Amino acid sequence: MCGIVGYIGNREAYPIVLKGLKRLEYRGYDSAGIALINDQKVKVYKKQGKVADLEETLLGVNLHSHIAIGHTRWATHGEPSDANAHPHLSPSGKIAMIHNGIIENYLPIKKELLAKGYSFQSETDTEVLLCFIEDIQTCNQCNLEEALRIALRRIVGAYCLLLIDEENPETIIAARKGSPLVIGIGKNEHFLASDASPIIEYTKEVVYVKDYEIAIVKKDELVLKNLGNENQTPFIIQLDLDLAAIEKGGYDHFMLKEICDQPQTIHDCLRGRLDADTGQITLSGIQEYLEEIIRANRIIIIACGTSWHAGLVAEYIFEELCRIPVEVEYASEFRYRNPIIHLGDIIIAISQSGETADTIVAIEKAKEQGAIILGVVNVVGSTIARISHAGAYTHAGPEIGVASTKAFTGQLAVLMLMALKIGNAKKTIDQEKYQLLCKELSKVPDKVAEILLQEKRIKEIAIKYKSARDFLYLGRGYNFPIALEGALKLKEISYIHAEGYPAAEMKHGPIALVDEHLPIVFIATNDTFHSKIISNMQEIKARKGKIISIITDGDETASEISDDFIAMPWMNEIFAPIINVIPLQLLAYFIGTENGHDVDKPRNLAKSVTVE
Ligand code: G6P
Repeated sequence: MCGIVGYIGNREAYPIVLKGLKRLEYRGYDSAGIALINDQKVKVYKKQGKVADLEETLLGVNLHSHIAIGHTRWATHGEPSDANAHPHLSPSGKIAMIHNGIIENYLPIKKELLAKGYSFQSETDTEVLLCFIEDIQTCNQCNLEEALRIALRRIVGAYCLLLIDEENPETIIAARKGSPLVIGIGKNEHFLASDASPIIEYTKEVVYVKDYEIAIVKKDELVLKNLGNENQTPFIIQLDLDLAAIEKGGYDHFMLKEICDQPQTIHDCLRGRLDADTGQITLSGIQEYLEEIIRANRIIIIACGTSWHAGLVAEYIFEELCRIPVEVEYASEFRYRNPIIHLGDIIIAISQSGETADTIVAIEKAKEQGAIILGVVNVVGSTIARISHAGAYTHAGPEIGVASTKAFTGQLAVLMLMALKIGNAKKTIDQEKYQLLCKELSKVPDKVAEILLQEKRIKEIAIKYKSARDFLYLGRGYNFPIALEGALKLKEISYIHAEGYPAAEMKHGPIALVDEHLPIVFIATNDTFHSKIISNMQEIKARKGKIISIITDGDETASEISDDFIAMPWMNEIFAPIINVIPLQLLAYFIGTENGHDVDKPRNLAKSVTVE
């Protein structure tokens, strides 16, 4: 939610910050802005719209500076507009600030400031905080760093802040709580950003700033302090990330590239972990907690969005293979309940970004009550990866398209490995089945590659149904969560209303919607419930609904009932979800693009939801 970038060094700052904003646009894209110090004055340029709109308005403007901060916004307080765009200026006009997060108690502070005679140009919480900081500075006659520290002690909420001050043009001051901040260390230069993607082309040495830390960043010096003004030691780590991984590589959209990358990303996730010949599964991250997991009476999975759907698939698989009861919770609901957690309960937190605010707080709550937290995270070094006791990375590489695709299949691959490993250790899977499932899992990348060859066929289906007003997605058992995920993908990027439902439940409501205008996507590959789902398809056909089905290759019964079908290679039902989601991703992608939507940046969405 909102992307922030900063640069200080010997190079021209504007092009670096602009490029960084483009890389972070997946985090929010309703307005963008930059601030720099030029001619000894802080100057702010900002505009509603995408980063490219800002860039266009700045053509020909003198933006010479060696220090700059930039912001791409996902609106929280105040509609998308030029005035509400960041950076904001302090009342004196000397300090500019950008912010990712939400200041929850900004209203009482705003009232205090209004009573003192201040006025505001925007409706944002950010401008209030900046005014508050400058007011403290004026009243206390202290420097900006001290004023910031005092202000932050009164603030409730989440923030990553970058400030520049024309009185001190050699310094960027940054602070974080809840929203991420990475600082890249170059030679006589520093780069600041919400994630590492704007940084990696310049340096691989980074510091992840921790909650309640303030960074005082000069071109040749980085000082970290806590809110008590005590120096903290920066922990420098080496990034293992390639520039090519964050570029489009010839595809029209990141989403398509990421869908097509899946044979490789799933392979990367399994590589070194699964030896299909010997049946050896190495998950060094969770090894230390294996005994506790085997003994656990319960696993609670917490996640949001697509990651929550991965959790639902895991519920079916863990219960089947490990015989441990599983509950899957929306992090946002879990954190505000009074959840009952017993010592030794295992929490699996699933998150692509590792920065989702609700998931972070839910983890903290469970941790306080004695649960063991296992993180299934994509972004290396992210908050959730750091606060979990143990876990496994999905190794899907940077996911830029807002709709999650390769991260989802990475999550499924990790969860499938975990379930096999735990089930084997617990002896709840017989050896023959275990060996067979290991072999099946190792074949997933090739099967995904096979499915991707049907891109053209899926595009034809997309064109045929692209004008439908609603869609229904139905699946049973392991494929029920895939129905939810298929519907979510379509909603996100095509703005067509879509509902996912357990196929049998359809009779208790959604069947009322069925007529000759309603396309219904059945995930109906061969499994234990196959004859049941065929009956559900017949029920739809009898009511003239249009059936698009995902079926196992050669299933004539299913293909005959369907108006259109996509044939899948055979796969053991336990692992079918990881391949069955692929055609649904492509279907959503083509319906979105055929309807002319910007699928990488769907309206109102953001990839990383760092506000609750
Ligand atoms: C946002 C993204 C989704 C993602 C969800 C959870 O809504 O648009 O793609 O599934 O957040 O994010 P996380 O990073 O925790 O998986």
